[in-house]
Formats: sequence, C-alpha cells, structure tokens
Amino acid sequence: MKHARRLPEDFLWGASTSAHQIEGGNTNSDWWFFEHSENPYIKEPSGDACDSYHRWREDMDLLARLGFTDYRFSIEWARIEPAPGEFSRSAVAHYRRMVEGALERGLRPMVTLHHFTTPLWFTERGGWAAAGSDELFARYLTAAAPVYATDVAHACTINEPNMVASMATLYRSHTSGQPLPTSGLTVPDGATTEALVRAHARAVETVKSLAPHVSTGWSVANQVYQPQPGAEDLTATIRHPREDVFLEAARGDDWLGVQSYTRTRIGPNGPLPVPADAEHTLTGWEHYPQALGHALRHSAALAPGTPLIVTENGIATADDTRRIHYTTGALDSLADALDEGIDVRGYFHWSALDNYEWGRYQPTFGLIAVDRETFTRTPKPSAAWLGAVGRSRVLPTAAP
Ligand code: BGC
Repeated sequence: MKHARRLPEDFLWGASTSAHQIEGGNTNSDWWFFEHSENPYIKEPSGDACDSYHRWREDMDLLARLGFTDYRFSIEWARIEPAPGEFSRSAVAHYRRMVEGALERGLRPMVTLHHFTTPLWFTERGGWAAAGSDELFARYLTAAAPVYATDVAHACTINEPNMVASMATLYRSHTSGQPLPTSGLTVPDGATTEALVRAHARAVETVKSLAPHVSTGWSVANQVYQPQPGAEDLTATIRHPREDVFLEAARGDDWLGVQSYTRTRIGPNGPLPVPADAEHTLTGWEHYPQALGHALRHSAALAPGTPLIVTENGIATADDTRRIHYTTGALDSLADALDEGIDVRGYFHWSALDNYEWGRYQPTFGLIAVDRETFTRTPKPSAAWLGAVGRSRVLPTAAP
C-alpha cells in the first residue's frame, strides 16, 4: 500500500485549452484555411467551436467552482495580427480581460503564446522555416505584451514544437501535390525545427525584457518511445529528431512542459501498431496511463535541473469512467515521479472542454461536455472528481 502522496500547497492544478480549438471563427488563421481546402485529415471545419471567444467567463466560472486553481489557455496570433504589422488593440484587450477574469475567479493564468495556429499570411510567406520568422514572432509578442506584462506567472512560448515541425512536413507534401502519409511516424522538418528552437529563445528574451517576472518555458509532446528487445538503437534514432532535440533546447529554461497521452512501442523494424487486445481510446491510442511517469522521467533526464510542469495529459473517451480510471493511473505515476525526487511543479489536464480536435469533434477529451447546437456546458463526473483531488492536495493511488 502506497503512503498518501500530498502535493505542495503551491502546486499548479488546472486544465488546458487552446484558442483555435474552443474560440470559434478563427478566420484569419492557417488552420481555417486548411479546414476549407482538400485535405484528408479534415473531417469537418472548426466553425463556431465552443464559442469560447464569447463564453470564456462561463468556462472560467466552471473551472473555479470545480476546484481548479490554474487555467492554461492560448492567445491567438491570427487575431492579434490579422495582417503583417497590423495589430488589433481589441484582440489584445480581449485577452487581457481573460487574464484579469481568471484572476478575479481565483484562477492563475498560464498563457500559451502559440498553440499550433499562425496567421495565414505567416504560413503563406513560408511559415517558421522562412527567414525572419523569429523576428516576426518577437514582434507579435511585443504587441501582445499588455496581455501578460502584469499578473501572469507562467507563459508557454510554443506548444509542442515537435508536432509543429511534423505538421510542416505534412504541409509541404500537401502543397507540393504529393499524397499525405496516413500512417507511420512523420519526420519533423529540419529547417522548421531549427527555426522553432531559435524562435523559442527569441521569445524568452522578448517576454523577459518586457515582463521579467514571467516564468517561461515550452511544452513538448512526449511519445514515450519504448524499444522492444533489439530495437534500442532504432528507438534512439527515431526519438532524437522527434523529441530529444526539443527537450535539450529546454535546458536552462524556467520550466519545461510535459505533454503525455500514450506510448509508442518500437520493434526491430519500426513502430508497432497498438495491440488489438489493448484498450483503444477515441483517437486510436492505447489507454496507457503510466505514460505520464515515463514522460516525466525522460524529460527530467534530458533537461536536468529544469523544473517540470505537466501542461497536458488526458484521454479521448465517450465513457467518463474511463477518464477517471486513466487520470487516476496518470496521477499515481506522477506521484511516483515526485517520490523519486523529480521536480514537478504542476498538473494541467487536457482538456477543460470537449473541443475541436484538429479536424474533427468526435474525440472528446473534455472534463466538461459542450452541446454542439446550444454551446451549453455540462461538467462530467470526472471534472468534479479532478477538482476535488486538487482541493484535497492528495494524489490518488491506482489499483495494482
Ligand atoms: C495538443 C492539443 C491536442 C491534444 C490531443 C496535443 O497534441 O497540444 O492541441 O488537442 O494533444 O490530441
């Protein structure tokens, strides 16, 4: 029997969202454009999403009432800079109101500065790999400074740069007319990877020069690559450009965001499919809660001395009892990591709301259900359960 694993009082306890996935009507973004072009990944457009651009107060009221003390949300570059060098004061004021609204409700905001989407004009000029992208990112962050300049403790510069670099590969094959790969592991685009590492460093510098109190980091998607016997070298080769490069770039940051959902097993000939007898989630991933503990250990090993924050962890399921089961296991593995001395400072569940899962609405990751016609929010039992875990400050133990 494990002892009660108590969290420090200042441990961050929240849920995460991203602007494009919940706001609706993000018409100046590259994703809006992809959603309306021929693309086998897109089953439906984001449309009004959860209408959170207008209903963010309701979202925050619910999270605060449920027992969360932190909220990670992103601000949308495409709204703040709809045309190159043209900034929207109204969009900046909107996100500042969100920061203040969170604080009024007792939620500490963690602000993500880039979560997958960019203004369409930025993508059309060549995206991250084009010369000067870091400069443009810094210019946008300077214009957005009123959002985070006071009262924001944490800013996440770029969400999952490793996925952004992989999307660049897919985008290139799409625009050059080659068929999009529908299986296997995409190789992140090398030039995009280098540009993102540069843009992150530049963003840290920019944010700190304008708001020295803000603690900055970026969040990396951790795939928990597990070698089967004989596949150790291959696994390291697969993992390095897809994950380790980005973890290494976090060395010396104020914190590193860990995002974990499942594992990827690698056999001697490459990635293995999820075994047919394993429990599959709505995204087709293996239900494997222990992934979080492995992701924390791997991140700590690659960025020694950098505090970790779980900025995303969750499951797409229509059965909320499986969400509680999954999250219990994940938190149990987080508690083990803390017991081992790994410096973890917070946990944000993905996601606060059922939202637009990059091409479709069917994989429901939310603690709170959203009616697609009326936008009515209904917290699921998992939301009350996870809020109560936060209030108790004691992490659950999974059945052996
Ligand atoms: C992303 C989220 C996404 C989630 C589930 C992460 O890759 O940051 O935007 O919805 O995982 O797929």
